[in-house]
Amino acid sequence: MLSGKRLLLIVSGGIAAYKSLDLVRRLKERGAELRCILTAGGAQFVTPLSLSSLSGEKVYEDMFSLTDENEMGHIRLARDADLIVVVPASADFLAKMAGGLAGDLASAVLLASDRPVLVAPAMNVAMWNHAATRRNMALLEERGVMRVGPEAGDLACGEVGEGRMAEVPDIMAAIEEILVPHTSLTGRHALVTSGPTHEPIDPVRYIANRSSGKQGHAIAGALARMGAETTLVSGPTNEPDPQGVEVLRVETALQMFATCQSALPVDVAVCAAAVGDWKVNGLADSKLKKASGEPPVLALSENPDILASLSQAGNLRPALVVGFAAETEDLAQQAAAKRQAKGCDWILANDVSAGTGTFGGDDNTVRLIDGDGAEDWPTMTKVQVAERLARRIADYFSPVA
Ligand code: C5P
Repeated sequence: MLSGKRLLLIVSGGIAAYKSLDLVRRLKERGAELRCILTAGGAQFVTPLSLSSLSGEKVYEDMFSLTDENEMGHIRLARDADLIVVVPASADFLAKMAGGLAGDLASAVLLASDRPVLVAPAMNVAMWNHAATRRNMALLEERGVMRVGPEAGDLACGEVGEGRMAEVPDIMAAIEEILVPHTSLTGRHALVTSGPTHEPIDPVRYIANRSSGKQGHAIAGALARMGAETTLVSGPTNEPDPQGVEVLRVETALQMFATCQSALPVDVAVCAAAVGDWKVNGLADSKLKKASGEPPVLALSENPDILASLSQAGNLRPALVVGFAAETEDLAQQAAAKRQAKGCDWILANDVSAGTGTFGGDDNTVRLIDGDGAEDWPTMTKVQVAERLARRIADYFSPVA
């Protein structure tokens, strides 16, 4: 299953490190090519000798080893892998990754790498639930780092709760899912819109909304990881560009509309942007002054509906058009009506009422509505929503028999 696949395994410090030995054996059995980096913490739990005996390869530990740098520089270690797996990923190691530290070989390799990364966190329940770890993990997931586990159960420290590293078969399954996807989007073109739009009032002021772009950017990244040639048309956001995606930046709804039209034809379009419904008529050339008298009155006119226009693009219509319905009440009915009105194929409905934390937050609870009915997805991170949507899109194009 994994023959010809090159994996870089990073073993960080934690009692669960002993499971990495079994993982190495299973990966070798499946034909994977393995290299291992053992952190100083990891070396407290497993020895370099056991790792190298099982992997049949030299184990890398030292950032400043001249011999290692001559044989295989850390930059090559970072790039010469189809997947990097951190197993176990301790709280400390996740924090280093999130912070972009590079003081040891393993962190430096990750910082220098553009390869996909899977982490298998393992730690005490309180450490896993700590706000710092949650934030670090969310940040990593936003950047496209994938995660397997942790699971709930008895922990090595004697406590019970979430923090136990995923079992080896589950880690194997996650690795195979990434490296040998049962469906793929190779050869397909995808268009994704993301973020808010800024509708200028005058040279310094604009009308905008609270969209962060997190969900749209995560979807573009997930589609690209599944092999789609992906174009992301993004309004102003602070999100980093997803890897392997062509990013076209715009400000206004009109620019987003024109940029999307010129990206056609595509196979699938996902409209996740929170497009401003109105633009300001008669844009002022200079900053409006707080003159005495009445405040200025803004005259608005409607922006084009990008989702509806893509859904009704005649012979340029993408085979699959997916929209979002951010609602604060009557979620299901509103979303189903929106699907009809816009003419798209699927709608992902999400509740953005105050208190749900969806706008700008890391999690999302969605219901997918298609021609056959509705499907409720559990609350997940926006990255997990993106992965699930990308898989569903891939299944749509090449259904598994
Ligand atoms: O009508 P409403 O804004 O609620 O519809 C939401 C869906 O329509 C989202 O998928 C959004 O990206 C898309 N949309 C659009 N262009 C607009 C308004 C909304 O593409 N002008």
